[in-house]
Amino acid sequence: MQNDNEVLLRVEHLCQYFKMGGGKELKAVDDVSFDIKKGEVFGLVGESGCGKTTTGRSIIKLYDITSGNVYFKGQRICAGTRSYKDAIAAARQQCKAACAELKAKCAGEIAAGADAEETKKKYEELLKAEAERRDLAIDEQRRLARDAMHDQKYCDKDYAKRKVAEIEAELEAALKNCGTEEEKIALRKQYREKIRLASHESIVHQIQMIFQDPIASLDPRMTVRDIIAEGLVIHGVKDKKYIDERVYEVLEKVGLVREHAGRYPHEFSGGQRQRIGIARSVIMRPELIIADEPVSALDVSIQAQVINLLNDLRNEFGITVLFIAHDLSVVKYFSDRIGVMYFGKMVELASSDDLFDHPLHPYTKSLLSAIPLPDPIYERQRKRITYNPLAEHDYSTDKPELREVAPGHFVHCNMAEFENYKKILEQSE
Ligand SMILES: Nc1ncnc2c1ncn2[C@@H]1O[C@H](COP(=O)(O)OP(=O)(O)O)[C@@H](O)[C@H]1O
Ligand SMILES: [Mg+2]
Repeated sequence: MQNDNEVLLRVEHLCQYFKMGGGKELKAVDDVSFDIKKGEVFGLVGESGCGKTTTGRSIIKLYDITSGNVYFKGQRICAGTRSYKDAIAAARQQCKAACAELKAKCAGEIAAGADAEETKKKYEELLKAEAERRDLAIDEQRRLARDAMHDQKYCDKDYAKRKVAEIEAELEAALKNCGTEEEKIALRKQYREKIRLASHESIVHQIQMIFQDPIASLDPRMTVRDIIAEGLVIHGVKDKKYIDERVYEVLEKVGLVREHAGRYPHEFSGGQRQRIGIARSVIMRPELIIADEPVSALDVSIQAQVINLLNDLRNEFGITVLFIAHDLSVVKYFSDRIGVMYFGKMVELASSDDLFDHPLHPYTKSLLSAIPLPDPIYERQRKRITYNPLAEHDYSTDKPELREVAPGHFVHCNMAEFENYKKILEQSE
């Protein structure tokens, strides 16, 4: 289903820590990296509380993320500063240690009979050089932090500016081909609205999130028409007739009818409300939809319908999907690649086929063992594997990180486990 290998979204060392009482932090998302290619469905799976929603909400900028970067269509839209602050503290610490060592050496040389005056002078130079190195490093980190804060705050403004500049350039080019002054005036007038709309454009709104609970995410006092149209209005669209037409169009796209536009959310069933939520996203013509457990609150009979709808939208509009679920059974047939999260970390990332055929991380195996199959014999024999990280891993000296065990197949593991996983894959071939 992938159009090409173009990366649409890149999440890089994302950390989102929440402040708890007493100076403590909860690492809801801790150093998570993955990318999503244009046109693909990426499944993000893990038990409740592992940080899936926080990952999604970070991407759409509901938080000032703690650390890391998120790039969308090559532009940085989220950037945290913690890593730069840590680097500044480390540079200070390193300088302090180096200076203490130099001072001790200096005292030692003088004690051993070296000329005090000359030795001190020599070491002063060295100390000065250390301080200069530290200051340079700090300046560099401060610059990176400033850039990060700028992008975090102004990515939409920068984007709109660029879009306006593009359209102005288009207008300039068109004006050159105009013969008469009247033609020029007409052209300028025609471009005025285009430029106004471009100045309202947002790169972040090209990512739309669909929430788990369709009732909590729909304002009960607004009509379906106004709920669905809200995004367009925010983007400066004023033409009521155009808005109505677009609302009717997306209502039909999601399997509702235009007569529903005048009603209120409480008049609909759970499945229909989720369709309204999807319509509200789709009207923005998003390039990426983050579907956060969109079927978890729905009856099983309706789950498949909503998944089919998402699949249709993906096929029809080429929308890329980040599909969040707490178990693997929902994402299995729908995802091109799957990332498995456990307690804020990405523990395994692979193509759907690789993940199901050759799961490596014990937590992934445990999730797989939880999937029921419509086969009574298998069901009777099915053993649930429980994951106990303390019993599974010894990370006291050999530290874990996300490592590529086979092309495109990543596992959070230490070196010993890495070698072992590679062996397992070789033997299974
Ligand atoms: N706004 C918040 N403030 C403090 N803690 C939060 C907040 N949002 C989520 N958390 C905590 O972060 C962790 C991850 O939560 P969440 O991302 O909702 O997990 P999931 O979607 O995988 O169930 C949980 O421990 C949750 O309690
Ligand atoms: Mg959640």
